Amino acid sequence: MSNIIEVKDLKKEFKVPKKDKNLSKMKKRLSWFYREWEIKKAVTGIDLEVKKGEILGYLGPNGAGKSTTIKMLTGILHPTSGDIKVMGNLNPIENRNEYTQNIGVVFGQRSILAYDIPVRDSFRLFKAIYGLTEEFYQKRVKYLVEMLGIEPFFETPYRMLSLGEKMRCELAASFLHKPKIVFLDEPTIGLDAEAKISIRSFLKKINKEENVTIMITTHDMDDIEELCQRIVVIDKGTLAYEGSVKKFKETYANSKDVTIHYKKIENKDTWKKLKETIPNRKSDIPKSIIFEFPMNKSLGKFLQDVVKSVEIHDLSIQEPNLEHVIADMYKSSSQKNKGE
Ligand SMILES: Nc1ncnc2c1ncn2[C@@H]1O[C@H](COP(=O)(O)OP(=O)(O)OP(=O)(O)O)[C@@H](O)[C@H]1O
Ligand SMILES: [Mg+2]
Repeated sequence: MSNIIEVKDLKKEFKVPKKDKNLSKMKKRLSWFYREWEIKKAVTGIDLEVKKGEILGYLGPNGAGKSTTIKMLTGILHPTSGDIKVMGNLNPIENRNEYTQNIGVVFGQRSILAYDIPVRDSFRLFKAIYGLTEEFYQKRVKYLVEMLGIEPFFETPYRMLSLGEKMRCELAASFLHKPKIVFLDEPTIGLDAEAKISIRSFLKKINKEENVTIMITTHDMDDIEELCQRIVVIDKGTLAYEGSVKKFKETYANSKDVTIHYKKIENKDTWKKLKETIPNRKSDIPKSIIFEFPMNKSLGKFLQDVVKSVEIHDLSIQEPNLEHVIADMYKSSSQKNKGE
């Protein structure tokens, strides 16, 4: 797969007012004149490649720099430095017109549709902006309206819609001009389970049918597990991981969940001793035990000992939960940073 986006050493700094608690009352009142400024580094040097036709998950804790990156990739923000090349040679700022014809954007926290007018009218506006022919527009609207199930409220003013309905309309609008790349910044934020499922299935389907490249930021790990072939994790503005979800779990997961149901205990003493070696027992009821088994220890060896102590009825080993792995990773990196 060839790269559709190539980013080299991308940086974004913001000038923010310095917080000075020791400022006198008088100076506080005239803070505009006395204010000192400092540089806040939001993105501190990111190299990124997005492959044509992939769904890439762009992850990181709050404040990591995800939205800032998306804003630079969509031409909303000027990078402080670095290089962005899209579809060969397009730059989001220098080639703005051609670029916007090829991309779609959804910000989960901000709307691209007009608040007071029916959704259909906003779509008409986009038709004009993108210069779409009537024939293309009619066909496209039909396709998107059907796929996202937005027909019942397509004539309703945007402000009257529920959050889930709004987001489905936003998505339809962002795909209206059949873009080659769509950037989604938290498209499922605040949505209920059903709305999330319908959005995920839409994204999967359109990605497959049109080979559209999708870059998505989300804090919902089910979005990632279901949609993304590859993830990039950033932390404090810099790249922390790049690769498959599977490899990510293998690298960062500390433990996996094991459940053992047993018929009877063959050897009480060895079973008791064995259980003491398991630090994270989640549940320990008669004839059943659930625990977290550390990744760095041999589960095979452990199970051999279990077989000597109890008669196993059923055994299941669960893949590490992505949510926990990500949380552990964020936690350990913030502890590392505090220690520095
Ligand atoms: N316009 C701005 N002026 C000053 N600082 C900003 C601005 N925009 C973002 N920042 C800062 O840059 C950092 C990165 O913000 P960004 O919104 O990119 O994070 P994020 O990864 O999208 O987080 P979240 O998961 O909470 O959406 C934060 O510390 C934020 O306060
Ligand atoms: Mg954000």
